[in-house]
Amino acid sequence: MQHNVTLPPWCLTALVISACGLPLAVLATQLVMGQLGPDPAERLMQGTGEWALRGLALVLLASPLAQAGWRGVFRYRRVLGVSVFVYVSVHLLLFAQVYVGWSGALLIEELKERPYVLVGFSAWASLVPLALTSSDSARRRLGRRWRQLHRLIYPATLLAWLHLLWLARSDVGEAVVYGLIFAVLLGWRLRRYRQRAR
Ligand code: HEM
Repeated sequence: MQHNVTLPPWCLTALVISACGLPLAVLATQLVMGQLGPDPAERLMQGTGEWALRGLALVLLASPLAQAGWRGVFRYRRVLGVSVFVYVSVHLLLFAQVYVGWSGALLIEELKERPYVLVGFSAWASLVPLALTSSDSARRRLGRRWRQLHRLIYPATLLAWLHLLWLARSDVGEAVVYGLIFAVLLGWRLRRYRQRAR
């Protein structure tokens, strides 16, 4: 006799939410246990930034996967997208608290020294309208405009990548790898838009 074990949708959603929260929980635990090395703030900035980039790549991967037949992944795109926003917001709050201590004067100094922060901030700002309209009711209310608004994910991705490239200075290996991943994912979309337009 064959047993078919399928998890209910709420169970899978709970698993995806837990998976999205896990890296943040690990970082927080390492912080509390003093396992983040000599510069915990820098490690936290790197950790939250890295996971936000990985999440962005996964959000962009949802459409190609759905077209390849894995339609179920669409159900988890919102959880992933909101998680990216949470990680970038923690990244931003850490910057405000640890790097500039909420001081306008220190912020100006930091921006002179690290102009790539402005690019990162623009990426975060492009994600704000997406996070604010992520609910089902906002989607229904906005109708066609919801899709147009959510195209902000493309400039947000480009700005996030530029932020990474700019701060990498001499070691651009990681930025090149993400650049290739994003180029493939955005190229796939561009080709699809062109096919639809024809
Ligand atoms: C979508 C938005 C963003 C993404 C994906 C992102 C990603 C990253 C990543 C991956 C790193 C670590 C790079 C490395 O050292 O290997 C990083 C570093 C940094 N980010 Fe962002 N970031 C974003 C937005 C922001 C914002 C909004 C700010 C502040 C306003 C910011 C400030 C910084 C700073 C100061 C560092 C350097 C940390 C250090 O090495 O001391 N970023 N970011």
